[in-house]
Amino acid sequence: MDQDALKKLVGRAALDFVEPHSVVGVGTGSTVNKFIEALAEARLPLRGAVSSSVASTRLLQQAGITVLEPHEVTKLGVYIDGADEIDPQGCMLKGGGGALTREKIVADLAEQFVCIADQSKQVETLGAFPLPVEIIPMAAAQLARRFDAMGGQARLRHAADGRAISTDNGMHILDVRGLQITDPLALEREISAWPGVVTVGIFARNKAQVCLLGTGTGVQTLR
Ligand code: 5RP
Repeated sequence: MDQDALKKLVGRAALDFVEPHSVVGVGTGSTVNKFIEALAEARLPLRGAVSSSVASTRLLQQAGITVLEPHEVTKLGVYIDGADEIDPQGCMLKGGGGALTREKIVADLAEQFVCIADQSKQVETLGAFPLPVEIIPMAAAQLARRFDAMGGQARLRHAADGRAISTDNGMHILDVRGLQITDPLALEREISAWPGVVTVGIFARNKAQVCLLGTGTGVQTLR
């Protein structure tokens, strides 16, 4: 099975975690797009969804699903999202698609984070994937020096036109290579406290309680 088929498989499997007539939290990315497709096909009766990006909002609305703002709910039963890496404890690196800040906000509203991913995302230790960090633009050089001091190499993410990418929040992204993240919670706390950091793409405080992993032999449920 190719990666696309594995994403489709876990996107469908995530439907089992969505309560009828509930509001579901929806992440961002190519795997989540498969989940949105599955939601649309299943015609599950839903009160709506809280979305983590402009891109997911557009797809949800095209599928006829009502998109609610975070302030319209006090909590969500479940948040479904992908990951760039997930470790055996359910800690993740996220933000490859640049939506990490809104993803963390919506994940924080949810009682349960269900991560959907193909098996290429499973790692022992986080950090081979460059760590995304959403930042206030004026802090870029200062933050790059901080990462340099801890052995990481930070690069501003650029779009195809050569300009620094602008997130849904009008911010920039640093991608940091060369970090071995052995204590995700401690590093998340440390980087989150640096002036100029909006959100670090380590999801340890908001880790996944369940991971639906797409493998050649089907969906593995890891808890
Ligand atoms: C977006 C994310 C995505 O969940 C992550 O990049 C995985 O994406 P994909 O499902 O396309 O592999 O964090 O900010």
